[in-house]
Amino acid sequence: MSIPAHEVRELLSEGEIASRIRELGQEITRDYPDVSEPLLLVGVLKGAVLFLADLLRAIERPVEYDFIAVSSYGAATRSPGEVRVLKDLDAPVAGKHVLIVEDILDSGLTLSSLIERLSSRHAKSVRVCVLLDKLARRQTPVPVAYCGFEIADFFVVGYGLDYAECYRNLRYIGYVIHHSLEDSDSPL
Ligand code: IMP
Ligand code: MG
Repeated sequence: MSIPAHEVRELLSEGEIASRIRELGQEITRDYPDVSEPLLLVGVLKGAVLFLADLLRAIERPVEYDFIAVSSYGAATRSPGEVRVLKDLDAPVAGKHVLIVEDILDSGLTLSSLIERLSSRHAKSVRVCVLLDKLARRQTPVPVAYCGFEIADFFVVGYGLDYAECYRNLRYIGYVIHHSLEDSDSPL
Protein backbone atom coordinates (compact mmCIF):
# COMPACT_ATOMS: atom_id res chain seq x y z
CA MET A 1 0.00 0.00 0.00
CA SER A 2 1.36 3.43 -0.81
CA ILE A 3 0.96 6.12 1.81
CA PRO A 4 1.30 9.87 1.17
CA ALA A 5 4.60 11.68 1.73
CA HIS A 6 5.02 12.27 5.42
CA GLU A 7 7.50 12.35 8.24
CA VAL A 8 7.42 11.14 11.82
CA ARG A 9 8.59 13.37 14.68
CA GLU A 10 9.22 12.11 18.20
CA LEU A 11 6.57 12.92 20.79
CA LEU A 12 7.46 10.53 23.64
CA SER A 13 10.87 8.93 24.01
CA GLU A 14 11.55 5.31 24.85
CA GLY A 15 12.71 6.40 28.33
CA GLU A 16 9.61 8.51 29.02
CA ILE A 17 7.35 5.62 28.03
CA ALA A 18 9.27 3.13 30.19
CA SER A 19 9.25 5.29 33.30
CA ARG A 20 5.54 6.08 33.01
CA ILE A 21 4.78 2.37 32.62
CA ARG A 22 6.74 1.62 35.79
CA GLU A 23 4.51 4.13 37.62
CA LEU A 24 1.32 2.65 36.16
CA GLY A 25 2.48 -0.83 37.21
CA GLN A 26 3.00 0.36 40.77
CA GLU A 27 -0.45 1.98 40.88
CA ILE A 28 -2.10 -1.17 39.55
CA THR A 29 -0.18 -3.33 42.03
CA ARG A 30 -1.43 -1.11 44.88
CA ASP A 31 -5.02 -1.04 43.61
CA TYR A 32 -5.43 -4.82 43.44
CA PRO A 33 -3.97 -5.88 46.80
CA ASP A 34 -5.90 -9.14 47.23
CA VAL A 35 -3.74 -11.60 45.33
CA SER A 36 -6.30 -14.37 45.81
CA GLU A 37 -8.58 -12.51 43.35
CA PRO A 38 -7.58 -13.06 39.71
CA LEU A 39 -6.53 -10.02 37.69
CA LEU A 40 -6.92 -10.47 33.94
CA LEU A 41 -5.32 -7.97 31.58
CA VAL A 42 -7.14 -7.88 28.25
CA GLY A 43 -4.95 -6.48 25.47
CA VAL A 44 -6.70 -4.99 22.46
CA LEU A 45 -4.96 -6.28 19.32
CA LYS A 46 -2.81 -5.26 17.66
CA GLY A 47 -1.75 -1.85 18.92
CA ALA A 48 -1.65 -2.66 22.65
CA VAL A 49 0.72 -5.62 22.36
CA LEU A 50 3.93 -3.77 23.23
CA PHE A 51 2.29 -1.76 26.01
CA LEU A 52 0.73 -4.91 27.50
CA ALA A 53 4.05 -6.77 27.43
CA ASP A 54 5.83 -3.99 29.32
CA LEU A 55 2.95 -3.23 31.69
CA LEU A 56 2.67 -6.90 32.74
CA ARG A 57 6.25 -6.90 33.93
CA ALA A 58 5.73 -3.69 35.90
CA ILE A 59 2.91 -5.27 37.95
CA GLU A 60 4.10 -7.06 41.07
CA ARG A 61 1.25 -9.48 41.71
CA PRO A 62 -0.09 -12.49 39.82
CA VAL A 63 -1.73 -11.57 36.50
CA GLU A 64 -3.24 -13.43 33.59
CA TYR A 65 -3.57 -12.00 30.11
CA ASP A 66 -5.70 -12.54 27.06
CA PHE A 67 -6.37 -10.69 23.80
CA ILE A 68 -9.38 -9.39 21.92
CA ALA A 69 -9.35 -7.99 18.38
CA VAL A 70 -11.89 -5.45 17.21
CA SER A 71 -12.18 -3.49 14.02
CA SER A 72 -13.05 0.15 14.11
CA TYR A 73 -10.55 1.85 11.84
CA GLY A 74 -9.65 -0.39 8.91
CA ALA A 75 -6.76 0.96 6.89
CA ALA A 76 -7.98 4.55 7.11
CA THR A 77 -7.22 6.89 9.99
CA ARG A 78 -10.81 7.85 10.84
CA SER A 79 -13.18 5.98 13.10
CA PRO A 80 -16.31 4.89 11.19
CA GLY A 81 -18.22 4.46 14.45
CA GLU A 82 -18.76 0.74 14.28
CA VAL A 83 -16.95 -1.82 16.41
CA ARG A 84 -16.85 -5.47 15.39
CA VAL A 85 -15.20 -8.27 17.39
CA LEU A 86 -12.79 -10.10 15.09
CA LYS A 87 -11.21 -12.34 17.76
CA ASP A 88 -12.83 -12.91 21.12
CA LEU A 89 -11.19 -13.79 24.43
CA ASP A 90 -10.06 -17.40 24.86
CA ALA A 91 -11.58 -17.88 28.33
CA PRO A 92 -14.53 -16.64 30.40
CA VAL A 93 -14.03 -13.53 32.56
CA ALA A 94 -16.71 -14.29 35.17
CA GLY A 95 -15.48 -13.56 38.71
CA LYS A 96 -12.23 -11.94 37.55
CA HIS A 97 -11.02 -8.37 37.81
CA VAL A 98 -10.63 -7.31 34.19
CA LEU A 99 -8.28 -4.54 33.14
CA ILE A 100 -8.65 -3.64 29.47
CA VAL A 101 -5.29 -2.51 28.11
CA GLU A 102 -5.46 -0.28 25.04
CA ASP A 103 -2.88 1.73 23.13
CA ILE A 104 -4.90 4.88 22.54
CA LEU A 105 -8.28 6.35 23.38
CA ASP A 106 -9.67 8.50 20.60
CA SER A 107 -13.45 8.79 19.98
CA GLY A 108 -14.05 6.27 22.78
CA LEU A 109 -16.28 4.03 20.63
CA THR A 110 -13.97 1.01 20.83
CA LEU A 111 -13.52 1.09 24.59
CA SER A 112 -17.09 1.95 25.51
CA SER A 113 -18.34 -1.03 23.53
CA LEU A 114 -15.66 -3.31 25.01
CA ILE A 115 -16.49 -2.24 28.57
CA GLU A 116 -20.15 -3.01 27.92
CA ARG A 117 -19.38 -6.36 26.36
CA LEU A 118 -17.05 -7.56 29.12
CA SER A 119 -19.22 -6.21 31.96
CA SER A 120 -22.16 -8.25 30.66
CA ARG A 121 -20.06 -11.42 31.15
CA HIS A 122 -20.10 -11.03 34.95
CA ALA A 123 -16.54 -9.90 35.48
CA LYS A 124 -15.93 -8.90 39.11
CA SER A 125 -14.83 -5.48 37.88
CA VAL A 126 -13.93 -3.91 34.54
CA ARG A 127 -11.46 -1.06 34.31
CA VAL A 128 -9.50 0.58 31.52
CA CYS A 129 -5.78 1.32 31.21
CA VAL A 130 -4.71 3.35 28.17
CA LEU A 131 -1.23 4.45 27.24
CA LEU A 132 -2.42 7.54 25.34
CA ASP A 133 -5.58 9.62 25.57
CA LYS A 134 -6.66 12.11 22.88
CA LEU A 135 -9.25 13.71 25.13
CA ALA A 136 -10.22 16.40 22.62
CA ARG A 137 -11.64 13.82 20.20
CA ARG A 138 -13.96 12.03 22.61
CA GLN A 139 -17.48 11.28 21.27
CA THR A 140 -18.54 8.83 23.98
CA PRO A 141 -17.50 9.16 27.63
CA VAL A 142 -15.14 6.41 28.80
CA PRO A 143 -14.14 5.95 32.44
CA VAL A 144 -10.33 5.66 32.43
CA ALA A 145 -8.75 4.23 35.56
CA TYR A 146 -5.14 4.47 34.33
CA CYS A 147 -3.72 6.74 31.64
CA GLY A 148 -0.11 7.00 30.55
CA PHE A 149 -0.19 10.34 28.74
CA GLU A 150 -2.82 12.81 27.59
CA ILE A 151 -1.89 14.03 24.11
CA ALA A 152 -3.20 16.62 21.67
CA ASP A 153 -5.04 15.67 18.49
CA PHE A 154 -2.07 14.18 16.61
CA PHE A 155 -2.01 11.00 14.60
CA VAL A 156 0.61 9.01 16.45
CA VAL A 157 2.66 5.95 15.55
CA GLY A 158 5.25 3.68 17.12
CA TYR A 159 5.41 1.45 20.18
CA GLY A 160 2.65 -0.74 18.72
CA LEU A 161 0.67 2.02 16.99
CA ASP A 162 0.54 1.98 13.21
CA TYR A 163 -0.08 4.08 10.16
CA ALA A 164 -1.30 1.60 7.51
CA GLU A 165 0.55 -1.18 9.42
CA CYS A 166 3.86 0.71 9.40
CA TYR A 167 5.90 1.96 12.37
CA ARG A 168 4.61 -0.46 15.02
CA ASN A 169 8.21 -1.40 15.83
CA LEU A 170 9.47 2.11 16.63
CA ARG A 171 10.78 2.24 20.20
CA TYR A 172 9.36 5.73 20.67
CA ILE A 173 6.00 7.34 19.91
CA GLY A 174 5.98 9.90 17.13
CA TYR A 175 3.41 11.98 15.32
CA VAL A 176 2.85 11.99 11.59
CA ILE A 177 3.21 15.16 9.56
CA HIS A 178 1.87 15.07 6.02
CA HIS A 179 3.55 16.92 3.20
CA SER A 180 1.52 18.50 0.46
CA LEU A 181 2.32 17.64 -3.17
CA GLU A 182 4.21 20.93 -3.63
CA ASP A 183 6.87 19.95 -1.11
CA SER A 184 6.87 16.23 -1.88
CA ASP A 185 10.33 16.46 -3.41
CA SER A 186 11.81 17.66 -0.14
CA PRO A 187 14.25 15.11 1.33
CA LEU A 188 11.93 14.29 4.30
P1 IMP B 1 -11.67 4.98 19.15
O1 IMP B 1 -12.69 3.88 19.08
O2 IMP B 1 -11.99 6.10 18.21
O3 IMP B 1 -11.39 5.47 20.55
O4 IMP B 1 -10.37 4.40 18.50
C1 IMP B 1 -9.38 3.78 19.16
C2 IMP B 1 -8.53 3.00 18.18
O5 IMP B 1 -8.25 3.76 17.00
C3 IMP B 1 -7.19 2.70 18.79
O6 IMP B 1 -7.20 1.45 19.40
C4 IMP B 1 -6.27 2.72 17.59
O7 IMP B 1 -6.26 1.43 17.00
C5 IMP B 1 -6.90 3.66 16.63
N1 IMP B 1 -6.27 4.99 16.70
C6 IMP B 1 -6.83 6.14 17.17
N2 IMP B 1 -5.98 7.16 17.10
C7 IMP B 1 -4.84 6.67 16.57
C8 IMP B 1 -3.56 7.26 16.28
O8 IMP B 1 -3.29 8.46 16.48
N3 IMP B 1 -2.62 6.43 15.75
C9 IMP B 1 -2.86 5.10 15.51
N4 IMP B 1 -4.04 4.51 15.80
C10 IMP B 1 -5.02 5.29 16.31
MG1 MG C 1 -6.33 -0.21 18.80
